[in-house]
Amino acid sequence: MTASRYHEVYESWKRDPEAFWAKAAEAIDWDRKWDKVFAADEGVYGRWFSGALCNTCHNAVDRHVASGRADQPALIYDSPVTGTKRSYSYAEFKAEVVALAAVLQDQGVAKGDRVIIYMPMIPQAVFAMLACARLGAVHSVVFGGFAAKELATRIDDCAPKLVISASCGIEPGRVIAYKPLLDGAIEMARNKPEHCIIVQREQLGCELIAGRDIDYATSTEAAKAAGRDVPCVPVAATDPLYILYTSGTTGQPKGVIRDNGGHMVALKWSMDNQFGIEPGEVFWAASDVGWVVGHSYIVYAPLLHGCTTILFEGKPIGTPDAGTFWRVISEHGAVSLFTAPTAFRAIKKEDPKGEFIPKYDLSKFRTLFLAGERADPETVKWAEQRLGVPVIDHWWQTETGSPISQNPVGLGLLPVKYGSPGVPMPGYDVQILDDAGLPVPHGTLGNVVVKLPLPPGCLPTLWHADERFHQAYLNEFPGYYKTADAGYIDDEDYLFIMARTDDIINVAGHRLSTGAMEEVVAEHPDVAECAVVGIGDALKGQVPCGFVVLNSAATRDFQTIEKEVIALVRERIGAVAALKLVIAIKRLPKTRSGKVLRATMQKIADNEPWNMPATIDDPAILDEITAALQARGLGVAQSA
Ligand code: COA
Ligand code: AMP
Repeated sequence: MTASRYHEVYESWKRDPEAFWAKAAEAIDWDRKWDKVFAADEGVYGRWFSGALCNTCHNAVDRHVASGRADQPALIYDSPVTGTKRSYSYAEFKAEVVALAAVLQDQGVAKGDRVIIYMPMIPQAVFAMLACARLGAVHSVVFGGFAAKELATRIDDCAPKLVISASCGIEPGRVIAYKPLLDGAIEMARNKPEHCIIVQREQLGCELIAGRDIDYATSTEAAKAAGRDVPCVPVAATDPLYILYTSGTTGQPKGVIRDNGGHMVALKWSMDNQFGIEPGEVFWAASDVGWVVGHSYIVYAPLLHGCTTILFEGKPIGTPDAGTFWRVISEHGAVSLFTAPTAFRAIKKEDPKGEFIPKYDLSKFRTLFLAGERADPETVKWAEQRLGVPVIDHWWQTETGSPISQNPVGLGLLPVKYGSPGVPMPGYDVQILDDAGLPVPHGTLGNVVVKLPLPPGCLPTLWHADERFHQAYLNEFPGYYKTADAGYIDDEDYLFIMARTDDIINVAGHRLSTGAMEEVVAEHPDVAECAVVGIGDALKGQVPCGFVVLNSAATRDFQTIEKEVIALVRERIGAVAALKLVIAIKRLPKTRSGKVLRATMQKIADNEPWNMPATIDDPAILDEITAALQARGLGVAQSA
């Protein structure tokens, strides 16, 4: 193994962050260079590349067409659920993006306007993101697994001029009609979009509403036939490229803003230095465009880097089998795969000996990247042994847009430590503080924070919510960004991320708010009080478990109520919430000041040692909960 340049590079960032990022920014085409690399007096905590003008679509698409990549595949769509494969060269990709941009322009979409994209994993979803970027419009992609109410909340928050959607999505074994969800959301929303552009899929078409809905295929074909050209609109580096809503502690999701300039600089740098990928190579992130991993590593980073990206509409198992990932890698010559550990746990469960792997030619495959949730050492080792390539766990968040910590492949690998997502990346001064905000010694668990300012590519604030941004991230530890993760740093500066400090849970790599679920469960007429906690799950990492206290007037049998509560959460939040278990208890355990002791409930359910909280109102309640869990076959533990 060659010596890693990591320490040298990290130190060079620490010595002079502005010089470091100015150098990284040379890899991007700018319409106008910045006045200041970092303007500390702008925005909430400062802004990167202030005064610069640029366009993300130019850098991700046009630049490559002009510089010899016109015939190279930009995007390969591989959809085992529909039996479709299609490759788009950079030139074809540009033609699709320009045509859609023309249609958007005809509907009055201009710089700064918001466009919601509610799409399954089809190429049009990616064209839509880039078409918005081309016009300087701000896209907000909403994950297809969210229900109408969640979509409506996002429509109301960002007030889109237009929505781009499709007739249906496809999950194994079922076709999901999107149009009723979209129509329902618009019905509920106060800020109604003027138009919707709809992709009609052959698996299930839909009725278009006259005057409001526009057919995607017909309108873009007409734009192509008319030879429409839509130039890239220069925007300020600090202008928003997109808003991505992510779970907060309430039912109101947080609108994470990504700017144009810093985002491009950070992602381009990460492809080289963190992921070790060369322009022209095939890079695959098996996620969904509705999540941040999809935004950054299916769409923007590979395209900014001149790579070929794979858009995979399928699952790691069942579409058709646990060999699908290896088939895709070998067929398209992918050098890397990025996915969530859950996907590997699913494959391992189905094919424990990895018997599908040798059936495919994986000779080009160099690295497996895992993120989105804690990568358990057992899964990492299984993947390492079966695939014979480095398995790189890395840690980040929707808020940061690219990894905070990693083992940087491009700078030369450091020794792997199982259970650790690596060392802090340039830009991130990661520290561990106790609840009083004081630094803790190495090896001690505490709040993981990042010293301000955050580097390029991180959220500058929340959409129209500076105060919420302060409250959620900056107020608790002045001078630092609170990640809301708990963890520790060892003597060699490796990070270990152990848990969230808020009520966010991570289900199959999907970030969900238990607070949002509680709001829905509490709406059930028979529920007096409730708490939702994340309990351990061998496949999905965590799954939500609802505890409900029924109204004294509730007389129906609990099985019926449980089914109704589960259906209500599915209807309001979406199937992705994955709430499948609701337990009736007599009372919720609370502190004397009325705070529900969710962490203790979770520990009891997970069979972990727990201490009797000193402030508990009535200790007997925990025995009641233990008994209720036991009755459902869930773990119990003795008080430590
Ligand atoms: N549209 C509509 N419904 C969706 C959806 C989408 N885009 N994505 C998921 N769902 C549904 C699923 O069909 C499932 O419905 P069900 O309760 O009727 O079975 C439900 O939401 C829960 O989905 P999930 O938690 O993903 O479970 P699953 O059993 O469908 O799949 C895995 C399990 C492990 C195969 C899958 O979660 C996976 O591949 N995860 C890892 C990769 C990943 O995407 N990570 C994201 C961040 S990197
Ligand atoms: P998301 O915003 O959906 O990317 O979720 C971010 C959260 O997922 C983080 O705050 C962590 O709690 C968790 N997470 C992401 N990657 C990792 C990792 N490699 N190890 C442990 N937790 C992770």
